Amino acid sequence: MASTPVIQLSGVTKTFRDFWLRPRARAVNDLHLKVEAGEVVGLLGPNGSGKTTTIKMILGLLFPTRGQIAVMGKRPTDVRLKARVGYLPEESTLYRFLNAEETLDFYGRLFSLSRAERRRRAGTLIEMVGLESARYRPIAEYSKGMQRRLGLAQALINDPDLLILDEPTAGMDPIATRQIKDLILELRRRGKTIVLCTHLLGEVEDVCSRLAILFGGRLRSEGAVEKLLETNERQSLVVEPLTASTVEKIGALIEREEGKRILEVERPRQRLEELFLQVVAGAEEEGVATSGATGGGSVAAFLTQEDSGESVATHDPSGGDSDLGSPSQAPLPTSAPGTHVPSRSPVSDTDNDNDNDNDNDNGSDNDHTVDREFLRRLVDGSDEA
Ligand SMILES: Nc1ncnc2c1ncn2[C@@H]1O[C@H](COP(=O)(O)OP(=O)(O)OP(=O)(O)O)[C@@H](O)[C@H]1O
Ligand SMILES: [Mg+2]
Repeated sequence: MASTPVIQLSGVTKTFRDFWLRPRARAVNDLHLKVEAGEVVGLLGPNGSGKTTTIKMILGLLFPTRGQIAVMGKRPTDVRLKARVGYLPEESTLYRFLNAEETLDFYGRLFSLSRAERRRRAGTLIEMVGLESARYRPIAEYSKGMQRRLGLAQALINDPDLLILDEPTAGMDPIATRQIKDLILELRRRGKTIVLCTHLLGEVEDVCSRLAILFGGRLRSEGAVEKLLETNERQSLVVEPLTASTVEKIGALIEREEGKRILEVERPRQRLEELFLQVVAGAEEEGVATSGATGGGSVAAFLTQEDSGESVATHDPSGGDSDLGSPSQAPLPTSAPGTHVPSRSPVSDTDNDNDNDNDNDNGSDNDHTVDREFLRRLVDGSDEA
């Protein structure tokens, strides 16, 4: 029996209307798209081609004008989906006055994770995205790329089965870009389903199994990346450097055996990405100081199969397909909260905290007191009794 697709769009159209309900823009036009479990699908298309609108409809943030959408066999607005989906929006929607730890704690609470699990996941995710040295700074002070990194950590806090990333590497440096690609590949190995919207075609080539190209809200091309990019007109052999006379002999052999010619002999250059990574790795090895993001760590342990993390409490009970909480004993990457010197007193609890969540703030005296207290009350209000 065929399994239920993770995402299925059937004849979906979205028309934005103005105040008088006159059609203003047809963002998506009769779109049919199916995403199966374990696929990494790249959604491509020029600016304004309907990628973000499609994503928002999949997430239940926008309603289609026509057509049907099913996510894991449910309507996009079904609340049971929320715990199984991670979303990195095109624009950062993080609270400016929270720091990285507080942000992840906040989202962890929305998924009813226990205090211990929130701390564990926040620690490993912050390390994974290279924000350890900025973990106690308010997000208002973050650079665009740092906010993007934290946004990605936030999208992963619930260890989602479906991850939707809208231009995840926009504003990121090449190291972070490479890490995101590695992370996506790791999640792909783990069998997660990912929809990736990007303008960086190389990114799609490196990580996606299938791609869909939109134009004017319509699907123009769709298929397996390998198949779409395959060409039967050329073939390359990669060998260690050869002398000119050997190349000549090979050319003669090819002509004799197949009646064909060598079209090009070139010495591949190092990729700029590799050069950049080498230069930065050198600076990091020398201990050159930076107030920005660093290289980041390995993929957070709870996102890999070896982890023994606890499950999201609101996980869809009907699904029964959670791969969280596997029994192996793999150690977590070490992140010792006490080893980082915060730039100011963190609002989050001290290390000797217990699970009672009586995290009364110590009343920080910085500029952001009002907003921070408001948010803290908001967070506390959502907490378990
Ligand atoms: N809230 C809105 N109100 C009116 N029109 C909108 C709205 N959101 C999007 N559109 C229109 O819908 C079309 C598709 O926009 P969308 O944001 O989905 O494109 P995109 O493919 O994500 O583009 P980009 O690559 O620039 O992010 C555009 O013509 C845009 O102007
Ligand atoms: Mg967009």
